Amino acid sequence: MSEADRAAGRARTGVALIGSTGSIGTQTLDVLSQFPNRFDLVTIAAGSNLELLADQVDRFAPVLAVHNAPHAALPRQRPGTRYDRGEPALIEAVTHPDVDIVIIASAGHAALRPAYEAILAGKAIALANKELIVCAGQIIMPLVRERGVSLRPIDSEHSAIWQSLGQARTHEISRLVLTASGGPFRSTPLDQLESMTVADALNHPTWAMGDKITIDSATMANKGLELIEARWLFDVAPHQIEAMIHPQSIIHSLVEFVEGSQIAQMSWPNMRLPIQLALTYPDRLPSVHRTLDLASVGSLEFGPLDDARFPAFRLAREAIMAGGSYPTAYSIADELAVAAFLRGEIRFTDIARALAITLERHDSVDVSSLDNVLHAVEQEHIRATETLRSLATGRGQSPAH
Ligand SMILES: NC(=O)c1ccc[n+]([C@@H]2O[C@H](COP(=O)([O-])OP(=O)(O)OC[C@H]3O[C@@H](n4cnc5c(N)ncnc54)[C@H](OP(=O)(O)O)[C@@H]3O)[C@@H](O)[C@H]2O)c1
Repeated sequence: MSEADRAAGRARTGVALIGSTGSIGTQTLDVLSQFPNRFDLVTIAAGSNLELLADQVDRFAPVLAVHNAPHAALPRQRPGTRYDRGEPALIEAVTHPDVDIVIIASAGHAALRPAYEAILAGKAIALANKELIVCAGQIIMPLVRERGVSLRPIDSEHSAIWQSLGQARTHEISRLVLTASGGPFRSTPLDQLESMTVADALNHPTWAMGDKITIDSATMANKGLELIEARWLFDVAPHQIEAMIHPQSIIHSLVEFVEGSQIAQMSWPNMRLPIQLALTYPDRLPSVHRTLDLASVGSLEFGPLDDARFPAFRLAREAIMAGGSYPTAYSIADELAVAAFLRGEIRFTDIARALAITLERHDSVDVSSLDNVLHAVEQEHIRATETLRSLATGRGQSPAH
């Protein structure tokens, strides 16, 4: 612990990291390494990258390491670390008595119940995963308020809004404006979008991220998921949330207040900054990353988000306006459609097509309990798989077939 920490009476913070082997997970470990006297990694969890998980365990010596690989064996085990797998172990990892803050950096929906249990246990949450709030914001956010839990967004746009809001109250917010780089296809001729390859779509101009979110940035489903996430995190109506294109990714989002002031947060695009802030909040600590010099940037550009180019964003707005289980249907259909695109089974424009078909066919179900949400997630997996199969085999009702 540093002298400053000691003087402030700060104890070390116990951390649980879910999704340690991914893009956000590995960057979180970089941040933790910069503050060895402030944080202890108590528990760690990953999916199936056991080689990397084993390295991370060697480096950080957690007491519990959880994975989700059913048959594979860990390449080596460290004495002093217990190894386990599956959801009960994940719940144990996030509710461990030595854990103060849980970083949810896993992709998909695996962390839904663990996150719920962590909030029930009163742990602070640093949230990167957006699927969780998209599907269960109606349950998670009231629980966060009821338990007085500190929920800190890691997603750069939501971190920007969180920082810009300060102590403002909901009725003082006029609009939230999410910024979007526009992805690799910001100016691709519309008639060429259909033929864009996986490599084209993974070639993001400003951010280095996991594959799923990179494809989501190309379709703008990512901005759609962020719209839904912002609705729940900041308790504003969907019509108060807008998005605009900002190719330089320097302004990460902004808040407009009712008197007309706008406050934005700026930095170079680097996820380690919002990760660090979520970990050290309410403190701001020096970091090793280069600071922004606007004079050297020269100019910042902004433009409207084009609905014809990015139908996935409009569809997300329709999903949150429709409410109920529509956002869950959107999230699952997107997850499976992106996976199918990455496997080469559908075309780039089929992703938005799958979202449109999904919402058109969806009948909302009750998602007012966690069990109902998990059931809806399961059901939507089945439906979305069918939709994608028909798109892939050319038998779907998509306009292209
Ligand atoms: N990347 C970014 O810059 C960024 C920015 C904002 C928000 N986000 C959000 O953060 C989340 C993670 O994104 P990412 O880009 O870091 O994804 P990623 O690189 O694909 O990493 C996903 C992580 O989740 C782990 N995982 C998968 N299933 C798991 C399970 N059942 N239990 C525990 N861990 C599991 C993976 O483990 P294995 O690899 O070992 O299988 C991996 O560590 C997403 O919701 C994304 O939308 C990401």
